Amino acid sequence: MDAKALFFFALLSFSAVSVRPALAENEEDPGLVMNFYKDTCPQAEDIVKEQVRLLYKRHKNTAFSWLRNIFHDCAVQSCDASLLLDSTRRTLSEKETDRSFGLRNFRYFDDIKEAVERECPGVVSCADILVLSARDGIVSLGGPHIPLKTGRRDGRKSRADVIEDYLPDHNESISVVLDRFASMGIDTPGLVALLGAHSVGRTHCVKLVHRLYPEVDPALNPDHVEHMLYKCPDSIPDPKAVQYVRNDRGTPMVLDNNYYRNILDNKGLLIVDHQLATDKRTKPYVKKMAKSQDYFFKEFSRAITILSENNPLTGTKGEIRKQCTVANKHH
Ligand code: HEM
Ligand SMILES: *[C@@H]1O[C@H](CO)[C@@H](O)[C@H](O)[C@H]1NC(C)=O
Repeated sequence: MDAKALFFFALLSFSAVSVRPALAENEEDPGLVMNFYKDTCPQAEDIVKEQVRLLYKRHKNTAFSWLRNIFHDCAVQSCDASLLLDSTRRTLSEKETDRSFGLRNFRYFDDIKEAVERECPGVVSCADILVLSARDGIVSLGGPHIPLKTGRRDGRKSRADVIEDYLPDHNESISVVLDRFASMGIDTPGLVALLGAHSVGRTHCVKLVHRLYPEVDPALNPDHVEHMLYKCPDSIPDPKAVQYVRNDRGTPMVLDNNYYRNILDNKGLLIVDHQLATDKRTKPYVKKMAKSQDYFFKEFSRAITILSENNPLTGTKGEIRKQCTVANKHH
């Protein structure tokens, strides 16, 4: 082989390797499976669990973020960690769109990925770490332990351009919300259970003032209005302002069925929360979950599982990102 042929041969074998990093030619794509990393990184799930636990000890609100992330990543086309990408010169990141308003703690997510990379460099996807951190965050918040599959790979592009087709706005009609979740295979009790995530965390005044000014929404519980007005005293809050109302004043740090009692009591903050308790399709499930934490947890676990398996990239699709905020460079 002359030098030129050798060069092309090297190039060819190099690109063959970089296109098929996960599987040999004749191996089949197993899709999502339990404990996908058992041979390639057996400690992966324990490392994520330990990092989530340590971060929760320092900042309890990190667990809210891991829970919100699974919705914002998986509901937008695919659980592919596209949510985590930063903007580049060419594309806006999902994180910077209005639907992502209030998402937080991304720098702590990087800590989890770095801990996994130290043990098994280039093996575990950001998409799987996102899903596993949600699972472990749910446990930190007092929710159920949900066994979830792994084997997702990372997308290379942010989906900011289509995000509004997938994520409903705070004031979306419940019919549209039901449709969007149905298209992921999530039925009515599943949707009702997932919105129980609004039993923790906060909502900023920017997303609430339209229910307070110029007139108070008559559907709101008057006792709750007093509290909301105290927390959101300005009709036009500075969008950078930090003013917010806690989603569940009773047990703000715990994932429990108090959310359903709140919304039945007209204390739901968002229009979607309120509609869940009033629409005739969803109300029966709201009542059932308000009565039974077990039923809520059972439906919540089922729905999180379906959400976590929405249209994943597996096998040789996508990539394993080295850093969750940037797609790998390709030559
Ligand atoms: C119709 C669907 C949904 C809409 C319109 C919606 C909208 C919102 C809005 C506007 C906020 C407040 C953000 C802020 O002001 O900081 C919020 C917070 C939150 N959402 Fe949702 N959401 C929906 C479904 C979900 C689902 C399915 C989950 C998880 C399974 C979820 C988890 C959370 C969490 C945990 C927070 C609190 C975040 C924090 O305090 O950092 N949401 N959501
Ligand atoms: C929902 O709220 C946004 C502001 O956050 C507003 O621009 C939009 O018109 C509202 N949509 C409906 C259907 O009320």
